[in-house]
Amino acid sequence: MAEAIVVQNEKKKLEGKVVIITGGASGIGEATARLFANHNPSMIVIADIQDQKGHAVATSIGSQICSYIHCDVSDELQVKFF
Ligand SMILES: NC(=O)c1ccc[n+]([C@@H]2O[C@H](COP(=O)([O-])OP(=O)(O)OC[C@H]3O[C@@H](n4cnc5c(N)ncnc54)[C@H](O)[C@@H]3O)[C@@H](O)[C@H]2O)c1
Repeated sequence: MAEAIVVQNEKKKLEGKVVIITGGASGIGEATARLFANHNPSMIVIADIQDQKGHAVATSIGSQICSYIHCDVSDELQVKFF
């Protein structure tokens, strides 16, 4: 019973939060996006330079909870206007 409550609370860690994951189109970032989707965030934003992969990951997680935006984090201007 106590374990069930802990698991339930763990699942709500991101409730109401907007999560931005740079490099989220593949690898560790993609895995993070998929994991975080289970923690009730209001939105996950994947920021990456691989547009096709980023859109595909966002779509597979669910467009109501996850979106993709092109952002090269090595370019200060792109980060600023993101
Ligand atoms: N995979 C591992 O086991 C491991 C272990 C230790 C450290 N790391 C390090 O962690 C990082 C991520 O590893 P990974 O395996 O997930 O790599 P990956 O190549 O699968 O993912 C990196 C993501 O970052 C994106 N990206 C690259 N340059 C970018 C930029 N300028 N702006 C926005 N997005 C950009 C890529 O498009 C890609 O989607 C790397 O630096 C890697 O060296 C990985």
